[in-house]
Formats: sequence, structure tokens, C-alpha cells
Amino acid sequence: MDILVISAGLSQPSSTRMLADRLTDAAVRHLGNHDQDAEVTTVELRDLAIDVTNKLVSQYTSPALERALAHVRSADALVVVSPIFNGSMSGLFKMFFDLVPPDDLAGTPVLLGATGGTPRHSLAIEHGLRPMFAYLRALTVPTSVYAATDDWGADSTLGVRIDRAGADLAAVLVRSPRPERVDPYEEVTPFSTLLGG
Ligand SMILES: Cc1cc2nc3c(=O)[nH]c(=O)nc-3n(C[C@H](O)[C@H](O)[C@H](O)COP(=O)(O)O)c2cc1C
Repeated sequence: MDILVISAGLSQPSSTRMLADRLTDAAVRHLGNHDQDAEVTTVELRDLAIDVTNKLVSQYTSPALERALAHVRSADALVVVSPIFNGSMSGLFKMFFDLVPPDDLAGTPVLLGATGGTPRHSLAIEHGLRPMFAYLRALTVPTSVYAATDDWGADSTLGVRIDRAGADLAAVLVRSPRPERVDPYEEVTPFSTLLGG
């Protein structure tokens, strides 16, 4: 299984990257329980910030951005984590996925995560990230994980929630691997056939 991790944290070290790594480790561990190996690639969007902006304003695609977008299309699953800024996904996270054509993610299992300062914004995944991935026709995993600053303390349920999310992604991958994509324009019915000729 080819798992692509997209992390949109801006700090170094980044709590967003930390959550992305822990979600991915959990998914890989659970895939192992199903006798499935996984290969993991992580993309830090902060490294692509200028390339993403250039692509949006001038259509120039840098080789690094091209590789990342091609990997989004080919990956068996994505783990995506954004910091919550002003109540929703970060601008960089949104801008990157604005470059992904809807068909490229159709049917791909996606595990959603987010980090924030306050636990009061824990539903930002449900009202921000999940609708965007629904538009992209991705197969979002039901369990998502939001980690507020306080969740990183020892007595939180974060580890249990991460483990459940990883188990859910592994189960989705094992039960329904991503379907082959069919180009709807590859086999066009001749117009004469449509007219009954
Ligand atoms: C511009 C800005 C806006 C933010 N808005 C929110 C917010 O609305 N809700 C929230 O819980 N945290 C908010 N935060 C805090 C970040 O979500 C939090 O620090 C995040 O975990 C940082 O991730 P990182 O460590 O990976 O950079 C905001 C931070 C910044 C810089």
C-alpha cells in the first residue's frame, strides 16, 4: 500500500506533522495486522508554499509540485492534516487541494486530521475539511482526529483516538482498495449508435 501523508503545519517542530506521523504509524501498524505492507511518503506543504502560489497565479508547475500532485493521484490512501486557522483549514492546505482535479481523488481513502489551540474548534474537520474532500469524491474515513494543545498532555484520549482512526483507515483499505479509474472519454459511443443508426 502506498500511503501519502500531506502535512500543512507551519512551525518547526510542528504539532500538525506530529499528528500526521502518529496517525500514519497507527494505520501502518493496523495494516500489518492484516498482513499488508505500507510504503509511506510525507509531503510538508510549507516546502511547496511558493510553488503552490506560483501555480495558482501563473500556471507554472515546479517539478516538486508536479511530483506531489502526481502522487496524490496514484496513492492508495492519503493521511491529511491541517492546522486550524481562523476556525477552518489553513489557506495553504486549501490552496494545495485547489490544484487537485476532482477525479484524481475519486474513491481514494483519506484520513482527516487537524490541530488547533482550542478544543472548541474540534468540529472544524467536519465543517471544513470533510465537505471539501466530499466534493473531490474522496472516501473519507469516518473517524477523524482533532488535537488541541491540551491533548498533547499525558492524560488525554489522543492516543486512543489516533489508534481508532488508524484502524479505520486500515480496514477501509483492506476491504475496498481504491477502484481503477476509468477515463469517461476513452470509449466514446459513436453518435450514429446513439441515434440508432
Ligand atoms: C493565524 C492563526 C490562526 C489560528 N486560528 C486558530 C483557530 O481558529 N482555532 C484554533 O484552535 N487554533 C488556531 N490557531 C492555532 C493553530 O491552529 C495551532 O497553533 C496549530 O496547532 C499550529 O500547528 P503547527 O504547530 O503544526 O504549526 C491559529 C494560529 C494562527 C497562526
